Amino acid sequence: MRLFLALEPPEALRARLGALADLARVHCGGRRVPDASLHLTMAFLGEVEEDRAGELVEWLQGESPEGGEWRLDSWGTFRRPGIVWAGGKTPDPALTALHEGLWDDLESLGLGGRPARFVPHVTLLRRARRLAIEALPPVELAWPWRRLTLLRSITEQDGPRYEALARSARSA
Ligand code: 2AM
Repeated sequence: MRLFLALEPPEALRARLGALADLARVHCGGRRVPDASLHLTMAFLGEVEEDRAGELVEWLQGESPEGGEWRLDSWGTFRRPGIVWAGGKTPDPALTALHEGLWDDLESLGLGGRPARFVPHVTLLRRARRLAIEALPPVELAWPWRRLTLLRSITEQDGPRYEALARSARSA
């Protein structure tokens, strides 16, 4: 099964990110990520066998990440798949530390795929026709986070659907 670890936005923020996605779609076209699917990918694991997925669930349920507040103040794009995203202008030290620590743990569980570069972003549009982010109003959002989710990506006709398999404990 295709798995990844992500932060899920609090509900109020999910709605605000959805409103940004609507706005971006007006200017850029493409496919808007549904509210229920909005997330920040922390580690993309790709295809994982069932036994290994069970180990991941057990490991994650014993985790309790330190938590933080990510400030989103920027639009961004990835040219190749026509992705328009919201994120931060500068690296966020707490997210960077979470990413590094996660991959240390994942590697000791026997999983590979640590990327050379981590660009925290929330994908809002896919297959955008124009990457016209300069026409968009400024982003100013805060994302308080305290737990991680292991998600399974299921491919459906109208795009991927994500199913939560496990969550970490919430940090205090
Ligand atoms: P993104 O939308 O935040 O960029 C589940 O498939 C999620 O994992 C996607 O939403 C995407 O996150 C990320 N992802 C998918 N394929 C990937 C790949 N080959 N490498 C890294 N991340 C990937």
